Amino acid sequence: MRRGGWRYAARMLDHLKARNRAWAQRKVAVDAGFFRRLAAQQAPEYLWIGCSDSRVPANEIVDLDPGELFVHRNVANLAPPQDANYLSVLQFAVDVIKVKHIMVVGHYGCGGVAAAVDGQRRGLVDHWLHPIREVAHECRGELDAIADQRKRLDRLCELNVMRQVRNVASDVFVQDAWARGQTLCVHGWVYSLADGLVNDLNVTVCGPE
Ligand code: CO
Repeated sequence: MRRGGWRYAARMLDHLKARNRAWAQRKVAVDAGFFRRLAAQQAPEYLWIGCSDSRVPANEIVDLDPGELFVHRNVANLAPPQDANYLSVLQFAVDVIKVKHIMVVGHYGCGGVAAAVDGQRRGLVDHWLHPIREVAHECRGELDAIADQRKRLDRLCELNVMRQVRNVASDVFVQDAWARGQTLCVHGWVYSLADGLVNDLNVTVCGPE
């Protein structure tokens, strides 16, 4: 039964494998050297820190090819200074790849941001989302003044991005990069699911403050 199970498993997701083959063929049809060139080097200029939400596909939104964008995604696009996963990505991007720009990209209508403040208990994710509750608490005056709940949550999405930009900019890897004269800017964006456009929050930091 188990071997039968394995055989069956090998045929699963065939529709995705077929799409993958068609995609690779399309790429080569347009540009014969596409994969050869990509395999040779990874030198993206940008690090994208975004939400895991399936509606916010990093490369697609900024229309970049594989090899052009280094990507880290998690629930609610957080940059927690104690998270080894995020820190490893950040250090590799800054010290080894030497990206020139880091974009923290939130999105309006983020389920993670909403879940952080709806008062329901979900388990481990409540701990993960804790930094958002801190932002909501610190900015409660501004948030409470927004009557419409959807608009209030959208503002919290923006405030969360601003906080994460501060986290990234104050990280020792980034501070050390600036100290050695490396060119590096940290940006805060919020993506709109409604029209596919990115809203630059104009909180860009390009050096120690
Ligand atoms: Co989200």
